[in-house]
Parts: sequence; structure tokens; C-alpha cells
Amino acid sequence: MIPISRRAAAVAPFLAMDVMVAAATKARAGEDVVRMEVGQPSAPAPRAVIAAAQRALEGGRVPYTEALGLPALRERIAQDYRERHGVAVPPERVVVTTGSSAGFILAFLSLFDAGARVGVPQPGYPAYHNILSALDLVPVPMRLSAADRYAPTAALLQATHAAHALSGVLVMSPANPSGTVIGEAALAELCAAARALGLPFVSDEIYHGLGYGVPTTTALRFDSDAIVINSFSKYHCMTGWRVGWMVVPDALVRPIERLAQHLYISAPYLSQVGALAAFDATEELDAVRDGYARNRAILLDAFPGIGLGRTHPVDGAFYLYADVANLTNDASAFCRRMLDEAGVAATPGLDFDREAGHHHVRFSFAGSEAECREAVRRLRTWLA
Ligand SMILES: Cc1ncc(COP(=O)(O)O)c(C=O)c1O
Repeated sequence: MIPISRRAAAVAPFLAMDVMVAAATKARAGEDVVRMEVGQPSAPAPRAVIAAAQRALEGGRVPYTEALGLPALRERIAQDYRERHGVAVPPERVVVTTGSSAGFILAFLSLFDAGARVGVPQPGYPAYHNILSALDLVPVPMRLSAADRYAPTAALLQATHAAHALSGVLVMSPANPSGTVIGEAALAELCAAARALGLPFVSDEIYHGLGYGVPTTTALRFDSDAIVINSFSKYHCMTGWRVGWMVVPDALVRPIERLAQHLYISAPYLSQVGALAAFDATEELDAVRDGYARNRAILLDAFPGIGLGRTHPVDGAFYLYADVANLTNDASAFCRRMLDEAGVAATPGLDFDREAGHHHVRFSFAGSEAECREAVRRLRTWLA
């Protein structure tokens, strides 16, 4: 018999990916499915990115890079912090990773020893919980609610630490699944509270650049020792390129370099070359973001009239997290029926919240405007 480790057994499936497989199977069989289950841009990578990667590929050799990433890319990322946020980040503190997913592994492995408890938002991105568990660390849910706009506060962090003696905390803004952006004052307070408690502050900023009328502010403005995790997957439309970055305190650079050397050697060369060009594609990428803004308005406008009104303003990212308690107490069954009967794929809330997720559904509006309108049309008929 093949043994399965306790750690592997503790990892829950990512239901969004399961729904994606079911939706893709239907689409392959010729069924017409509106795909709102997975959080990825439907737009391709910017033209400049594709051209740069093509040129590099034609150059012939696709090598490893330094484990911390191509120096030119690390410098360009540092420059972006200066220009966009007015924050001085030495390029030496920038680490290029294989998507933010690798950033979490590197952050958790370099910061925490087995058994450490780490506060994570709930609802929240499911990988936090599952990566921590897989590394023998203990995720401690910090419960957020619609009444508080799903925004974590300094008081919540202090209370969670008092009850569970945390070793660190992770927050995200804009958030998945809620889309909530933590306001600047609240983010400053959170950073100050973590610092006062002596807790490393890990800030997932992967949806930066995708704010609707609100700024997306980096935690580095309030804490130069924050461990920031970011990616080219979302704003830059480069999910499958698997390239992201971290900004880390000096003391973590070398430990992270050693881990990266052994865990994956380097992020893919072609993707790093492409990522470097992404900084010159702001106009194209802002146009994609403006498309999300239109999609967001379509859903927020139409959903209340079709029984999906228990939402809250979506500040950023490209998700609408609907409380469907008026329609079901089993979001998984609800999503299965929605896919089968209405041809709309969305993700049940259990992915994001093991306690209250059974009456929530996450809709991604990263697709086209026509898809959003079609989804509304189908859901209106289905829920009538
Ligand atoms: C909040 C959040 N963080 C991280 C990720 C992982 O992104 P990647 O590994 O593609 O950078 C996602 C993906 O959906 C996410 O929603």
C-alpha cells in the first residue's frame, strides 16, 4: 500500500478547479457555458510581453536564471514601487518567484517553524490554509463579515493573537473572494498592530492595479519590513506564465534564495523576460481593467433584481461574493445545478470559508462584457 502523508491528506481540494474541470468538460462536449468560476483574465498577455518572449525564444537558449530572478527584472520592479507608490525598495530585496503561489511557500518556510500559528482571513484565498497545513503550520482563521465589509482590522488581529498566540499574520487587499480593499488608515493600523505584537506581516497584493475608484496601497508604505507577495498573473494578464515577486526584509533574502535554489532553481526565463516588458504595457492593461469595471457595474446593477442582491460594493479584484442564503444552504449543490440547468459556472463559497461558505457563491467577472450580460440573462430566467 502506498502511504499518504498526514500533511497531504489534510489538504482540501480547490473546488474552483473542480468546477473548472466540470465546466470545461461540458464546453468540450459542445455545451455553451458561461465561465465565471476561475479567477483569471480572459485577455491575453500584453502584446509587448508576447513579443519580448518570442524574441527571447528565437535567441535559442532558454537558461536558468539567478534563483532570485533576472537582475533587470528585480530592478524594474523596484522602480515601479518608486514610481507608483513613492516607496524606496532596493532591488536586492526583490525576489522573482514562480507566481505568488511560490511566494507563499518561500515566505512561510523562511519565517515559521513547524507548529507555528498564522492568522489568515476567512473568507480568504484557500491556498493560505492549505499551504500552511501542508507545511505543518497552523492556519488560524480571522473571521471577517459582510457587516465589516470583509476588511480585517487591528482589533481583530489583536483579539486573534490574544486567543491563539500567533507567530505571524497574512492579509490581502484587494481580497479574494470579497474584492474588499483595506483602506489606507486601516492598513496602517494593521501594520502598526502587527509590529507592536512582534508579528511578521505578510501582505498579499496580487490584485494591485485592480481597484475601482479606490487606490490599492502597498503595506510597504507603512512597514518597510512587510513581506509583500505579488504576481504578474492578474493585472498583467499572465496567469499561465507563472511569474510573480516578493519584497522581503534584508534578513530574509539569503534564506529565501537558498530555499528557491533547491525548490525550483529559478522562475521560468521566458516568463521573466516577458514580465520585464509588462511594465511598458500599462495602457493596454488599464483598458482591460476598465473592461472589468464595466462588468462589475453590470453585475452590481442586475443582481439585486434577480435574487442575488446580498452582495456588497466590490472595491477591487474581479470577484463578486454573493450571500445566497435566501436561495440555498448548500452552495455546492446550488453551483452544480446552476452549471447544469443555467449553463453558468461559479464557485461555491466553501473554497473560501469552511464555516459560512455553504451559503455563498463567488462569481468572477474577469471575462468579457458579453459573457457577463449573458450570465445575467441566464440567471434571471433560471432564478425566476
Ligand atoms: C488572493 C490570491 N493570491 C494568490 C493567488 C495565486 O496566484 P499566482 O500563483 O498565479 O500568482 C491567487 C489566485 O487566484 C489569489 O486569488
